[in-house]
Amino acid sequence: MNAAKKLFVKTYGCQMNVYDSERMIETMEHAGYEKTDTPENADMILLNTCHIREKAAEKIYSELGRLKAFKSDKPDLKIAVAGCVAQAEGGEIMRRQPMVDMVVGPQSYHRLAAIEKVSGNGRKVVDIDFPEEDKFGQLGARAKARRAPSAFLTVQEGCDKFCSFCVVPYTRGVESSRPVDQILNEARYLVDRGVRDITLLGQNVNAYHGVGFKGQETSLAALIWELDKLDGLQRIRFTTSHPNDMDDDLIEAHGNCAKLMPYLHLPVQSGSDRILKRMNRSHTAQSYMDLIDRIRQARPDILISGDFIVGFPEETIEDFDATMNLIRYVKYGQAYSFKYSTRPGTPAAERDQLDEGVKAERLYRLQNLIATQQKSLQDSMVGRNLPVLLEKTTLFEGQLVGKSEYMHAVHVNAPETMIGSIQLVRISQSNRNSLTGSLC
Ligand code: SAH
Ligand code: SF4
Ligand code: F3S
Repeated sequence: MNAAKKLFVKTYGCQMNVYDSERMIETMEHAGYEKTDTPENADMILLNTCHIREKAAEKIYSELGRLKAFKSDKPDLKIAVAGCVAQAEGGEIMRRQPMVDMVVGPQSYHRLAAIEKVSGNGRKVVDIDFPEEDKFGQLGARAKARRAPSAFLTVQEGCDKFCSFCVVPYTRGVESSRPVDQILNEARYLVDRGVRDITLLGQNVNAYHGVGFKGQETSLAALIWELDKLDGLQRIRFTTSHPNDMDDDLIEAHGNCAKLMPYLHLPVQSGSDRILKRMNRSHTAQSYMDLIDRIRQARPDILISGDFIVGFPEETIEDFDATMNLIRYVKYGQAYSFKYSTRPGTPAAERDQLDEGVKAERLYRLQNLIATQQKSLQDSMVGRNLPVLLEKTTLFEGQLVGKSEYMHAVHVNAPETMIGSIQLVRISQSNRNSLTGSLC
């Protein structure tokens, strides 16, 4: 028998890409490949790419530049570009880097094995269709191996919101939701292989509206309650949500569903109504803060995480101060923040742009404020007994690292046999980016 061919995958961008990479690896395993962690050994290299900011997209071209050398040493090596850059740029990628053999978009990667078969020897394939068939229904069985205790599960894809800065509606297409039975089957599969903590994924996950068991439209809250019934599944999370889709049932679930974790990623982008309007966000700073109040009424200890863009076109210092005030009000436990990056084809790219230096200074101030909030929330965990899902060993003998309900990394001395279990940990120390404690 021939030795299995080797596949090396590098993933950029959001958690949805992490999930997609996993599915592409499984697809290629069915087609006779096995995964390798060293690109030097690979027969196929797959870059699963992100187009969200200019830097993210440019990274792909510099990586492809580096890969050129690999290919001249090994002409049979196949190079594939998947993900959002693939979708946005299509065949242009091959014009810029002729050694790329395959370009496959996020909605057509279930065809990757078929594409790989016909590519090579100078034959190039570009598949960036939005096919009619259900990608998830076409993907082969999930890998049988035992899994890490935490896993992602994509339940919704695409976005119809068209924020004026964002490429996602163009790269991922219109909103769509997977049916409830498909999701429950996959969740059961994961739980049977050792998963205890599932994060439901979607570009707009709380807009989920999949078909239920009786053909009825099902909300994210209803889906969560279905998952709540799964024995063995102990923790449920979801990301990323849009403020406008945070309905009452979902807020209530944060109060009543014990498996739903007290952590919510709810991007606001800006605290200025003038900018929010120009961003086409269709919520105001006040409506967002009111929403946070309602969520905290349901679950007072919930940790709120956010996304911010600074230096959006025409952002004045007053607009920026409004964002800082919103941050002071909400008190974030975690956040991602970015300088606005022009994306070709999006409406905001056509507008007057701010100076890079101004953007950098505002980002610095904003990140400092968030870091202070984040640290003080993390510090407030010291002295508490927290349930921690133990996930893996660390470099230190006898030590494991796990996750608290609030997503803090927690280090604790514990036997390896405890990996995959939830243990009560008394928190003794707050470090830069993690907590330390001992088993109760
Ligand atoms: N669906 C999610 C976010 C998807 S993109 C939502 O609605 O919030 C992830 C984050 O990248 C966004 O929240 C935004 O903060 C950032 N982002 C998107 N486009 C950007 C751009 N052109 N420049 C800078 N940051 C951007
Ligand atoms: Fe992009 Fe806005 Fe859709 Fe989020 S809601 S994916 S920021 S368009
Ligand atoms: Fe990037 Fe596409 Fe995700 S642009 S953030 S990989 S949806």
